Amino acid sequence: MTQVGIIGAGPAGLMLSHLLHRQGIASVVLERRSRDYVERRVRAGVLEQGSTDLLASTGVGERMTREGLAHDGIKLRFAGEEHRIDFRRLTGRGITVYGQQEVIKDLIKQRLADGGEIWFDAEATGVEGIDGDHPRVAYRRKGEEASLTCEFVAGCDGSHGVARVGLEAKSYERSYPFSWLGVLAKTPPASNELIYAYHERGFALHSMRSPEISRLYLQVDADDTMDAWPTARIWDELRVRLAEPNLQTGQVIEAAITPMRSLVTEPMQCGRLFLAGDAAHIVPATGAKGMNLALADVKVLAEALTAWYRSKSRDLLDDYSDRCLRRVWRAEQFSAWMTALLHHDPAGDPFDHKLRLSYLRYIVKSDAAATTLAENYVGFEVA
Ligand code: APR
Ligand code: PHB
Repeated sequence: MTQVGIIGAGPAGLMLSHLLHRQGIASVVLERRSRDYVERRVRAGVLEQGSTDLLASTGVGERMTREGLAHDGIKLRFAGEEHRIDFRRLTGRGITVYGQQEVIKDLIKQRLADGGEIWFDAEATGVEGIDGDHPRVAYRRKGEEASLTCEFVAGCDGSHGVARVGLEAKSYERSYPFSWLGVLAKTPPASNELIYAYHERGFALHSMRSPEISRLYLQVDADDTMDAWPTARIWDELRVRLAEPNLQTGQVIEAAITPMRSLVTEPMQCGRLFLAGDAAHIVPATGAKGMNLALADVKVLAEALTAWYRSKSRDLLDDYSDRCLRRVWRAEQFSAWMTALLHHDPAGDPFDHKLRLSYLRYIVKSDAAATTLAENYVGFEVA
């Protein structure tokens, strides 16, 4: 028995249990993978100011402040040109490049230091009784079936989770005819800023994790597998698309293909079950919003649960989904727009290609257009 049963130890689940603990609310996090697995899983890497503020102000930002890379802009490359979008000048804000698995490590360390309960290798198999006062999470751990009784359940179990199943909600969805091949490589970043490259052969992105480690992405066909992408081909393609003379090959630490998807579940709650992060919504990675949305959701959820435990008022809990969805839809629109702007359409409409180039030129010539990109990228406050 606990107050809040949390499914999933990603950024959403771990941050929620940390925020609840700070308000004296007990939780148990059920995670189907091992601690080692979640701490090594390579994911996103861009934090908006609101996310860094949340980590820092709740005592889990010390290493991020030290090791995170502060960026004040990005580079756009297309048609042999390079232009910088100066976020700081246009919006007064910047971003921090800090790997999601580092956020995970910092949160797990803090939760365990605070005596928090994270049950690794415990897979939730279903959620029951969400219309009553004591919902239950059925789970399997070390081959044994059991269930955890709680007062609330937070489904923070990512895009393939179980919490969403059975929720009476509508899904709004879009798939894309391409995926991203992501590479983590032991080579110093070739540029001090992220490079978003639009190329006729497809999109490419140069990012980083540290002064020694680069994070690189290539648009590939939706049905491509890694067999089609031997290491030499990856580097050749990155060289052509990024057109970055300083790019050096290095040992590939990790390489995987991730599909591009947009999905929103509405509402994000039912009875005593609340979804947060990828469990409720997915964005294509082009806008770098996934981790930020996950953290923003649980900040709202923690406030609502705190209000309930203080005064037994359900008002904030009832508003949870509406409050989150305003930010979610802003991020969905921005992510779909960035994706459409920067990816080559495999169906190959030359008219669209010309429109994209024209819009990119507009962005780099007009502060109004550049500000639209910049203020969404750094995190637009909808409320
Ligand atoms: N039982 C227990 N744990 C589960 C189950 C289950 N049935 N299903 C999934 N999980 C775990 C996963 O192993 C994972 O650790 O839930 C966690 C979900 O974490 P994330 O996928 O990281 O989702 P979230 O916390 O919402 O963070 C969103 O992750 O994928 C990126 O781009 C995305 O940056 C965004 C962030
Ligand atoms: C990353 O560094 O992993 C990254 C950066 C920007 C994106 C997506 C991913 O848009």
